[in-house]
Amino acid sequence: IAAQLQAGPLKGKRIIVTSGPTHEPIDPVRYIANRSSGAQGAAVARALQALGAEVVFITGPATVRPPEGVQVVPVETAREMQAAVDAALPADAGVFAAAVADWRVASASDRKLKKTKDGMPRLEFAENPDILRDVSTRAEGRPGLVVGFAAETNDVVEHATAKRLRKGCDWIVANDVSPATGIMGGTENAVVLITADGAQHWPRMPKEQVAARLAEIICNALSSPIS
Ligand code: CTP
Ligand code: CA
Repeated sequence: IAAQLQAGPLKGKRIIVTSGPTHEPIDPVRYIANRSSGAQGAAVARALQALGAEVVFITGPATVRPPEGVQVVPVETAREMQAAVDAALPADAGVFAAAVADWRVASASDRKLKKTKDGMPRLEFAENPDILRDVSTRAEGRPGLVVGFAAETNDVVEHATAKRLRKGCDWIVANDVSPATGIMGGTENAVVLITADGAQHWPRMPKEQVAARLAEIICNALSSPIS
């Protein structure tokens, strides 16, 4: 209700935000995951909501709490996240900040794997659906603005520029997550915004400020046609 009463320049705009890691089960007690805290995604959701957007926040098992006043859809796996995104469409924009696991265990065991004398289990992997690419390339119901994130450890602009084209999204918010930057799991972010016009380097700033700036340009893009 709070979200519906909210005024602001994004009033009446429905925006999907994915966030957090995904967990891919190995067996009922074990999983494969990554170091995403979900902080940047939560900050983006909060900033969009502050501008009046109706936010559907689809989150994997993050360490940060989801923002108040947004519709929260908790998921665990990449496939659950994709189903939740499909169910949340149509939307005016989508911001895909989740660190989706690229692979899942092909045949997760429904019983706990046990130690045996025959040695260790061999895990086979299957590729997860690419949620961002699938949404970006939808024949029908593609949000007017699709924003992806790209965490890279090297050649950030080159990789993210190629990624933007490969995925078919409008913008990529890229960042350098190599361990020396301390960005993964930290409170600050240094991003490069990749659009059709090229790369724009933003200074390192708190994740809330990255989110506020991103929300502002999303707002501008939704009020005027995207170049
Ligand atoms: N993404 C997604 N679904 C996936 C993988 C990624 O929706 N299965 C989204 C992420 O949320 C992010 C963007 O795609 O917005 C880029 O994710 P990234 O992991 O950097 O890209 P990949 O295509 O998986 O490439 P890489 O090999 O670098 O991991
Ligand atoms: Ca990936």
